[in-house]
Amino acid sequence: MRKVLVTGGAGFVGRHLVQRLLEAGDEVVAVDCVAPFTGGILPDAGWPLFEPRDFENFHFVYEDCRTWFQRERQAEFDYAFHLAAMVGGRLMIENNPLAVADDLSIDAAYWQWAKTARPKKNVCFSSSAAYPIKLQRADHYVLLKEDMISFESDLGMPDMSYGWAKLTCEYLARLAYEKHGLESICYRPFSGYGEDQDDAYPFPSICKRVLANVGAETLQVWGSGTQMRDFIHIDDCIDGVLATMDQIADGSAVNLSTGIFTSFIEFAQLAAELAGYKPRVSGMSDKPAGVHARGGDTTKQRELGFHARVAFREGVSAALDYYDREGSA
Ligand SMILES: NC(=O)c1ccc[n+]([C@@H]2O[C@H](COP(=O)([O-])OP(=O)(O)OC[C@H]3O[C@@H](n4cnc5c(N)ncnc54)[C@H](O)[C@@H]3O)[C@@H](O)[C@H]2O)c1
Repeated sequence: MRKVLVTGGAGFVGRHLVQRLLEAGDEVVAVDCVAPFTGGILPDAGWPLFEPRDFENFHFVYEDCRTWFQRERQAEFDYAFHLAAMVGGRLMIENNPLAVADDLSIDAAYWQWAKTARPKKNVCFSSSAAYPIKLQRADHYVLLKEDMISFESDLGMPDMSYGWAKLTCEYLARLAYEKHGLESICYRPFSGYGEDQDDAYPFPSICKRVLANVGAETLQVWGSGTQMRDFIHIDDCIDGVLATMDQIADGSAVNLSTGIFTSFIEFAQLAAELAGYKPRVSGMSDKPAGVHARGGDTTKQRELGFHARVAFREGVSAALDYYDREGSA
């Protein structure tokens, strides 16, 4: 039985990862303080899709991981998945950049702990927000490739304090390998989505708006609505991690992406079509849009033997069914 740590294990990604690890028979210690404005949910409050408390091999520690790191310096783990972060949706990233900057201290504490505890493998969740925003503009955008961030030659300006913190975590992963021999891999997920994601994110919010307005002639989405994201289903994110995490040791990063750009307007139109109507979709200019186009190249993932399988249409359809059932329950 592998012994596994998951910081941020009560969050959106954490809950799905914990499920897969428990089902695989791993001994899982999830450390999460369920921070305000994040997607964290206490196990005792009931996770929407999975009941971890049915598993004897599940151990939940309701605590700030920085405090836990101080106390558990000698804890032994085969894998440490480091997910804990102040994330929130776009509003949080744009309007609360100093709260998000807490991620710098969370990640510094993580690597200081790892230096002593020496988990056999460190699996860190960076973000596509680490990529230079100059490559994501309306007048110039490309599918983002892992080597477009180079600690040797070119970093570029990442997305707000969130992107800075993630970039710093990746840099610490490299130093941890070079100076201390700590093995790690960093993931750059693009727009991970699933039905149990917090409503602060575009995916649940657009799906729920579409369902609440069935039959309407118009529908609004945040920003100009032409901003594009690379939506990857949470099952694919977890599959991607589990399939590739043993193949890299030096802290290098791997995208979790589909390589497909979808605008918010296209997303809302697709969801409305699946809900049986055809509204005119427009943007809400007073709401933040973030970068214009953020999509991730898939070459490296494919070379490592992984490609995302869930088509966006399928993911949206499943979520609409879920929200519909929830609404009528
Ligand atoms: N969901 C995505 O599409 C996506 C995209 C890019 C990167 N990521 C990264 O993946 C990780 C998980 O993201 P998520 O979507 O599950 O977000 P989330 O907000 O749902 O989960 C983050 C969890 O971290 C916890 N946390 C925050 N500060 C903590 C602290 N000091 N100690 C312990 N726990 C703390 C929160 O309580 C929350 O449960 C994050 O590192 C995020 O940056 C996610």
